[in-house]
Amino acid sequence: MQQKGPLMLGKKIVRRLKHETISREHLWRPVGLPRYTQQTPLVESVCLMDNKTLGEWYAPVLITPAMIGSLASSPACIREVITLLKRLEPDQYVEYLLGYYEAGLERFKNQWRYADITTALLSVSQLLQPQNYLEIGVRRGRSMAMVAATCPQCRIIGFDMWMEDYGNAQNPGPDFVKKELKKVGFQGKVQFVDGDSHRTVKEYLRSHPDEYYDLITVDGDHSLRGASLDLRDVLPRLKVGGAVIFDDIVQPHIEYLQNVWQRYVAGQMRFATWEYKDLGYGIAVGIRKY
Ligand SMILES: C[S@@+](CC[C@H](N)C(=O)[O-])C[C@H]1O[C@@H](n2cnc3c(N)ncnc32)[C@H](O)[C@@H]1O
Repeated sequence: MQQKGPLMLGKKIVRRLKHETISREHLWRPVGLPRYTQQTPLVESVCLMDNKTLGEWYAPVLITPAMIGSLASSPACIREVITLLKRLEPDQYVEYLLGYYEAGLERFKNQWRYADITTALLSVSQLLQPQNYLEIGVRRGRSMAMVAATCPQCRIIGFDMWMEDYGNAQNPGPDFVKKELKKVGFQGKVQFVDGDSHRTVKEYLRSHPDEYYDLITVDGDHSLRGASLDLRDVLPRLKVGGAVIFDDIVQPHIEYLQNVWQRYVAGQMRFATWEYKDLGYGIAVGIRKY
C-alpha cells in the first residue's frame, strides 16, 4: 500500500530527483566556487554605515544568524505563517503542514520550537526589509508569499521551469503565483523567468550586471550538481548584510544538500550561518559578512 503524507510527497520528489541525479552525476564535473567582487552594495538597514568617522575594524554587518534563528523558530512566527498560508490556495502538503504546526503549538504551547523555509523567510524579511528578492524554485508561491506579505513593495524575481505535478500538486506557473501574492497584499513588481535555472539565471544575471539582492532563496533543482550550480551562480549577487536561504538540508535521500550548503556557504568565512535540522526537512540561512 502506498504511504500517504509528506514523506510520500518527499519520496515522489526524491524519486524524480534521484533519477535526475543519477543521470547527472554520471556526468559529474565538479562545480567551482563563486567568484566574488570587492565592490558589493550593502543592506543599509542592517549594516554600520558610519565607517568614515569610526573606521573599518569589523565587517559592517550588525545582524546575526542567532537573531534570525530565534525569531524563525518562535511560536509567534509559526502563528503568522499559519495566518498567511490560510490565505493561499491549499495543496496537500500545505494542508499537512497546517495540521503539523497546529499540533505542535497545541501540545507544547509557547515552548514549541520549529522552523522551515516559510518561518525563515518571514523572519528574515522582518529583519532585513528586503527591497530586492531573488528566488530559484517558486512552485505555487508559498515561500515567495512570506516575503511579499512582509515587504509588499519589494521587487521580486522568480526562476522556475514549472515542472508538472511537482510535489503531488499542480504547478500552474506565473499567473497563479501572481494571484497568490495579491492575496497576501503584495503591491510591488514581480517578474518570472521560465526555464532551466542553469541557463536562465546565468543569462539574466549576465544581462543585469548591476543587480544585487538583499535576500536570495535557492530551492529549485535539488540534485547535487544542480543545487551547487544555483548557489554558485547567485551568491556573488547577494549584498553584504543580505541573507541566502537554502531548503531541505535534512530531507531523507538527499542528505548531500547539507554538503552543498557546507561547501558554498557554511564553510566559508564570508558567511555567518544558522541551520535548523530538528524537525521537518531542515532549513539553512546564511548572512553575507563581506
Ligand atoms: C521545492 S519546489 C519550490 C518550493 C517553493 N520554494 C516553496 O517553498 O513553496 C521546487 C521548484 O523548482 C522547480 N525546479 C526544479 N528544477 C529546476 C530547474 N533546473 N530550473 C528551474 N526550476 C526548477 C520546480 O519546477 C519546482 O517548482
